[in-house]
Amino acid sequence: MKALILSGGKGTRLRPLTYTGAKQLIPVANKPILWYGIEAIVSAGITEIGIIISPETGKEIQLKTGNGDRFGAKITYILQSEPLGLAHAVKTAADFLGDAPFIMYLGDNLIEDSLDSFLVDFKKEDLDALILLKSVRNPTAFGVAKVNERGQVLELIEKPKDPPSNLALVGIYFFSPEIHQAIATIKPSARGELEITDAIQALIDQQKPVAARQLTHWWLDTGKKDDLLEANRIILDTRLESEISTEIDPNSQIIGRVQIGKNSKIINSTIRGPVIIGQDCHIENCFIGPYSSIADGVRAIDVDLEHSVILQNAKVENIHQRIVDSVIGQRAVLKVAPRRPKALRFTIGDDSQIELVRSIE
Ligand code: G1P
Repeated sequence: MKALILSGGKGTRLRPLTYTGAKQLIPVANKPILWYGIEAIVSAGITEIGIIISPETGKEIQLKTGNGDRFGAKITYILQSEPLGLAHAVKTAADFLGDAPFIMYLGDNLIEDSLDSFLVDFKKEDLDALILLKSVRNPTAFGVAKVNERGQVLELIEKPKDPPSNLALVGIYFFSPEIHQAIATIKPSARGELEITDAIQALIDQQKPVAARQLTHWWLDTGKKDDLLEANRIILDTRLESEISTEIDPNSQIIGRVQIGKNSKIINSTIRGPVIIGQDCHIENCFIGPYSSIADGVRAIDVDLEHSVILQNAKVENIHQRIVDSVIGQRAVLKVAPRRPKALRFTIGDDSQIELVRSIE
């Protein structure tokens, strides 16, 4: 059994963060989203992993993630020169996959359920495809499944205008090598992509064994800012362990589950968990509230913040309104003059959003 992780794509829905980096490397609780998928695959016992990369962000993914040693896996990078769809990515990986069955995992998906029991069912039932489903409020944004009372998959439709159910296809699939011949039979969709959904439909039409399981726990597709904040909240809530690797000055208070990395200075501040703070940060006169993740090298002085993500080396200073539901990019600077400012001065990247709101509700 092998695994194929898809980590290409342009990440348009996460702009401006994705102008300078891959969406799969955006951290959730200070760890790239992609790494959660790799860890889930390795913990299901699969160590031969192919990662599909794009020409735009492939180098960065390779540099950051490495050859797999840190995960106890062997990672092979496979370049998909154009984003022509998920089924096209499988075609591109044909040499790597050979005739092995495999898990296909979209690199921006996170699930709480472990993969183990699905893998056991996939093998035991000798399936050609096992898909995972989750009920969602906005099925038109996903691939959608029509299933009968016995849970058998009757039909799969990609981004339907008129969805036959609210069961979305999660971006994690188990395939036998039969999927390759199914892919060979499909044509590009209206959005010009070879859809994996259509290839699975082809297996169903050929009466091949295809089954579905519904996820019992959360699924996050971290494509947009609010999904990212939600993923951050859930991971901090469910997986963060307390660990303070630095000295805390006596005027600071650490409450609840908090992780702080080496060489970070916490001065005259209150940190109320769950919160993760990376290495080499300078946090002074701050209140850092629940569900915040602060990456390495961040400087925050005179700031009140909660339910937010601050990326590497950003600087936030002298902001006394509470910062909420925010994502602040790498090296960004957000600073207010010490006394009442007379003017506002901005250098803001394309597609940035700045909102001055009346209440935090
Ligand atoms: C892809 C699949 C879709 C699936 C979704 C899950 O959509 O085509 O069937 O529901 O991933 O994340 P995309 O992210 O390409 O819009």
